[in-house]
Amino acid sequence: MNFKPRVPEGGAIKDTDKMSMEEYSKIMNQRLKKEYIKFAENVIKKVAPKKNSKVLEIGSGPGWAGINLLKMREDLYLDGLDASEDMVRVAARNAADEKLLDRVNYFHGFGEDMNSLPNDEYDLVISRDSMHHWDNPELVFQEISRVLKKDGRLYIHDSRRDLNIGGKIIVNILGPIMAGSMLKYWKSSIDASYTPEEIGNILAKNDLDNWIVEADLMDLSIQKH
Ligand SMILES: C[S@@+](CC[C@H](N)C(=O)[O-])C[C@H]1O[C@@H](n2cnc3c(N)ncnc32)[C@H](O)[C@@H]1O
Repeated sequence: MNFKPRVPEGGAIKDTDKMSMEEYSKIMNQRLKKEYIKFAENVIKKVAPKKNSKVLEIGSGPGWAGINLLKMREDLYLDGLDASEDMVRVAARNAADEKLLDRVNYFHGFGEDMNSLPNDEYDLVISRDSMHHWDNPELVFQEISRVLKKDGRLYIHDSRRDLNIGGKIIVNILGPIMAGSMLKYWKSSIDASYTPEEIGNILAKNDLDNWIVEADLMDLSIQKH
């Protein structure tokens, strides 16, 4: 089937005159609280992080996805990398408020170039709704393959662009209720996201093995066990 071509959204999400990332963080945590919890539950259920895993989160944004994971699994340590210094500032504040600063470290950087991070460093790489922003996903997956231990795990969640009729009804009919003022951002992230097939083709060019792409009505996830 043919779907509309991607409409890239651009990389880092930063403070603007209309919205600081502190405000963005608050809105996201109000609107998506259940989604953040579901993401953390899925990481645990789908890829079962090993005890005391060192986790890397790419595109950690305000931090809520990783923070929920750390609250559910007190043995995990997390490094969060984001292309926006404003997001790094907000995530560190949120982690401090949640009293998690001894288990988390946020820093500025790009998934495409993680050269400050050593090879074979992480037991688990996670990412939520960031992949559709990456300028060059091929490079990010090469970097993931480098920093992830050979038996490391991966859980990446994002929207899918190839919505069927059910997905389109959800966005267009229920979207105004579900997303409110964030609806235009939701729609533009869907337009910027990939189809499961496109992601499979990107991953097939990479050194990573044992990955699967799982897709449901609205979303896709890449999992490596
Ligand atoms: C839609 S936000 C999602 C944030 C967070 N994961 C969440 O679920 O709330 C996407 C995030 O990815 C970051 N980002 C975009 N391109 C990136 C890249 N190439 N490397 C790292 N982070 C990136 C943005 O700055 C932004 O914080």
